[in-house]
Amino acid sequence: MRQLRPSPRPVPGHVFRLIRPGLRNRRPYMGAGSPEALARKYGFSLDRLVKLDSNENPYGPSPRVLETLTRPLPYHRYPEPDSETLRHALAEYVGASPEQIVVGAGSDEVILLTFAAFLGPGTAVIELAPTFVMYRLTAEVVGARVITVPRDPATYEVDAEKVIAALGPRVKVVVFCSPNNPTGNLESERTVRQVLETGVFVIVDEAYYEYCGHTFAPLIARYPNLGVLRTFSKWAGLAGLRVGYGVFSPEVARVIAGIKPPFNVSLAGQLAALESLADREYLMSTVRKTIAERERLFRELSRFEFLRVLPSAANFIYAELRRGSSRQVTEALARQGILVRQFDIPPPRGGIRITVGRPEENERLLEALSRLEPED
Ligand SMILES: Cc1ncc(COP(=O)(O)O)c(C=O)c1O
Repeated sequence: MRQLRPSPRPVPGHVFRLIRPGLRNRRPYMGAGSPEALARKYGFSLDRLVKLDSNENPYGPSPRVLETLTRPLPYHRYPEPDSETLRHALAEYVGASPEQIVVGAGSDEVILLTFAAFLGPGTAVIELAPTFVMYRLTAEVVGARVITVPRDPATYEVDAEKVIAALGPRVKVVVFCSPNNPTGNLESERTVRQVLETGVFVIVDEAYYEYCGHTFAPLIARYPNLGVLRTFSKWAGLAGLRVGYGVFSPEVARVIAGIKPPFNVSLAGQLAALESLADREYLMSTVRKTIAERERLFRELSRFEFLRVLPSAANFIYAELRRGSSRQVTEALARQGILVRQFDIPPPRGGIRITVGRPEENERLLEALSRLEPED
């Protein structure tokens, strides 16, 4: 007999009142949704679905990762508690020392750990909107207030003066994202330095570093109030294995590593990240293919007069709607088996974020777009 999933029951009142007030009615992260659910919803088989909604590497992991994980590995033993071997390999990759690196279950976990170190009730973090939504959601989890400083609506650049004007005794952290998700632009070094000079803790999220080659990590030697976050989910094709890391001054890294659960990164994740670093030539060849496709896609998308396409330094492209709405276009593409991410920026029409896929996937997207005529 089929098991019916029980419908969620409300938390009994006396238990509800024990939950932290800020978390009682909070809306959780709404990601892209599982490909299985989306395939079912739009009536496609999974292998016909073109998944351009989560900024993954469409070429997958390095063959060395796949080969390593087929071997009999000691899965009955705990992994290295502080990802020691991986931290040494990362130190060489980043140009830092192993004491400066903290590894997490995806950079999502490193965001959480870093926030937990600096933020809590009575403190605030500055987000530079539009940007990656996890900063806001993670701040809510640790009980900190979020102060939003909007980016320039035409270029999505950050105005350092506005950030500095928003600082106050409660603000402990400012989060930059370079290239920024979803708008794809790099942060300016001058702006980041101006904010660093104020002494507030600055995070630069470099989840898409390998697609642009520009990093703020060397500034950590001069500014101990800087932390740089990276991930293996994008360039290395390991989104499903959950490995990310942060680079900090040794003093800050010690505090963050001290909060971390001891075995936060699985054995499979640690080994896969090590093999990815050892095979970075191969992985960078997939990155180069994506960059070439990004430039082609940018040119092709720019032909659609209902889109305003933004240049991108990442593995995705943001396009604002000039006609119709992002909801309408996202739905119409999904009905053709193509998944992109819908945003409400800029109002009222919003925009879509398109992950750069393989050439044949990008072709399907372009064909599907050419069949659309968004209307107001
Ligand atoms: C800017 C940014 N930071 C962090 C992440 C999270 O990556 P991870 O898979 O390492 O948790 C993402 C994922 O989309 C991202 O876009």
